[in-house]
Amino acid sequence: MVVTSAVADAGPGVGPGLMVSAKEHVAEGVVSLTLTHPGGARLPDWTPGSHIDLVLPWGSPRSSAAESGGGTTRQYSLCGDRWDAHTYRIAVLREAAGRGGSAQVHDRLRPGDRVGVGGPRNHFPLVPSEKYLFIAGGIGITPLLPMVRQAELLGADWQLLYGGRTRASMAFREELTAAYGERVHVVPQDELGLLDLVAWLGTPRSDTKVYCCGPAPLLAAVEAVCADWPPYALRTERFTAAAQSAPVREEPFEVELRRTGRTVTVTQEMSVLEAVRRAGADVLSSCEQGTCGTCLTPVLEGRPDHRDSVLSDHERAANDCMFLCVSRSCGDRLVLDL
Ligand code: FES
Repeated sequence: MVVTSAVADAGPGVGPGLMVSAKEHVAEGVVSLTLTHPGGARLPDWTPGSHIDLVLPWGSPRSSAAESGGGTTRQYSLCGDRWDAHTYRIAVLREAAGRGGSAQVHDRLRPGDRVGVGGPRNHFPLVPSEKYLFIAGGIGITPLLPMVRQAELLGADWQLLYGGRTRASMAFREELTAAYGERVHVVPQDELGLLDLVAWLGTPRSDTKVYCCGPAPLLAAVEAVCADWPPYALRTERFTAAAQSAPVREEPFEVELRRTGRTVTVTQEMSVLEAVRRAGADVLSSCEQGTCGTCLTPVLEGRPDHRDSVLSDHERAANDCMFLCVSRSCGDRLVLDL
């Protein structure tokens, strides 16, 4: 992964002030929001797999350091038409055990309200392939919706396996089956049981890319079934941070901010993000769990201990960038392009 800076990677951004022009119930516990510029301006372009930061005007009672300016920031995949330059669409599942952001969207946000929007950013890009297998679990359908449209547009051979608790809980199910018919395999768990990944994924294929988004147990199951597939055949996106092993290094390490000429010491008690901010670096962050990609920063020297849930093995091995909110250092020194 090549980046120029964390801020540049945040995309052009549209700042505060998009308007909720529509709010619709699209499945049990799921609403979709249509966002437009209040003045009708064109919105920044995006590609399938992109997400935005949605900044709600209210703080969260269960807020974390990820909140800023009193608002609540959450990441949602864009699931509308990427060729519609004036509209973003997202879908939000009410998370009963969440930190309160989804409840605000469901209970407080109304058509006509203004929200802040950051991004779009894409850490789950659709790479070229002759064939695709898409696997969605529940609200994990959202980043895959624009992907199947793109695959169809490009004439690729694709199939979508879409699992959910019940038919009524599966957002955009009818839209998908109406548009793509038998390419879409709908598997409500209460009628048909769990997804039969072994049967569906079959034997490893070198001409096929597998894209999966959904809850952690589904991702783990797909990763296990794809263990013998060629490297980089499987791409996943997580909504929650993956489990991590203990940090490679417990001792403090130094981080040099090459552009400002400062060097800071990162102790066990602090993140690299906190340390560089104390040194005056202005780095954007959002989730602070290694899932959203906002704090991505170029690495000039040293080997990061990658602890995020975004980079692929290939991208990690390049050692040219890291997520400052969670990742640390394998050695006693890192040099960042800050
Ligand atoms: Fe989300 Fe670092 S702030 S990955």
